[in-house]
Amino acid sequence: MNKDVLTVMASRLDDEKQAVIILDQTALPNETVYKRHTKKESIWQAINKLEVRGAPAIGIAAAYGIFVVMNQSLADDFIAFSEEFKSVKAYLASSRPTAVNLFWALDRMEHCLNSNRNKPVSEIKLALREEAETIRQEDEEVCRMIGENALSLLKPGMGLLTHCNAGTIATSKYGTALAPIYLGEERGYSFKVFADETRPLLQGARLTTWELNEAGIDVTLICDNMASVVMKNGWIDAVLVGCDRVSANGDAANKIGTAGVAILAKEFGIPFYVHAPLSTIDMETKTGKDIEIELRKGEEIYEAWYVKPMAPKGIKTYNPAFDVTDSKYITAIITEKGIAYPPYERSLKDMFEKKENSI
Ligand code: MRU
Repeated sequence: MNKDVLTVMASRLDDEKQAVIILDQTALPNETVYKRHTKKESIWQAINKLEVRGAPAIGIAAAYGIFVVMNQSLADDFIAFSEEFKSVKAYLASSRPTAVNLFWALDRMEHCLNSNRNKPVSEIKLALREEAETIRQEDEEVCRMIGENALSLLKPGMGLLTHCNAGTIATSKYGTALAPIYLGEERGYSFKVFADETRPLLQGARLTTWELNEAGIDVTLICDNMASVVMKNGWIDAVLVGCDRVSANGDAANKIGTAGVAILAKEFGIPFYVHAPLSTIDMETKTGKDIEIELRKGEEIYEAWYVKPMAPKGIKTYNPAFDVTDSKYITAIITEKGIAYPPYERSLKDMFEKKENSI
């Protein structure tokens, strides 16, 4: 396997230029463009326009972003600094509503701010930098563990279907749903991966196939409406997906189209695995009905990626960016702390207890 793709970072700090560097994922697979951001407005845009996307990667970019913005603050006492922090936090948090990692990472940064309240502002800034780096580093280990746990459910040579992109560029490294594929490849598992193109923004076509192909992994691109055919052909042994938020009862919000794939998988008797860092599991959200689903502009459906619009001008659209897969369709939720099986109310709670005990 060619591991170079695993060194690609969705975002990183540039200390010299006091900026966050974000890989513009909207330019992939044709160009590799890195953009330097120093202002809260451009960081907000980068998240909102999906230049950085994927739940963990959004959280990491927001953590770097709030550090970079606050590092420029002229406030010289805690109260003024903290007021400014709260306003930047609320602003960045408004960039996308569904992925809970965005709020989780910003809350962690705020917790760091408050636990350093008695220090001079210059030291608080250093602490914020360290916390943002810790969030990124921890995510790498979390993804690796998700990969190990998921791999324990898979066998060499299996056919795997994935939707959207829950890969290395959606996280700090490895991805969540793609982590077992990378780890397995290193160990000679030779999976055959099928990637749904993932309309309308084509994360599967543009990003998942790019990543896996770069790594030398056997990947076949299919249109979203072909999933039932590859399942019926007997080519799929398991479906692996990531998620943006899991509620306490195990319902999982992920890229639009995921729920349909889960329903198909159940019909064909294929296990459907959701890969979720604990930072994506929101025990405060009771069920999937309580998850806010982002609605995006219709242009993404009829214009994006087309040379000319492919629908009549002014056509009515409905463009939810995510859907919720009911927990009854989910065979298991794979976390860094182990594999949760139904009933999820109990097993997800257990995961968090395990986490508490291991801190
Ligand atoms: O709109 P996106 O591209 O941010 O949606 C991403 C997904 O739905 C991913 O599957 C999810 O965030 C998990 S990424 C490890």
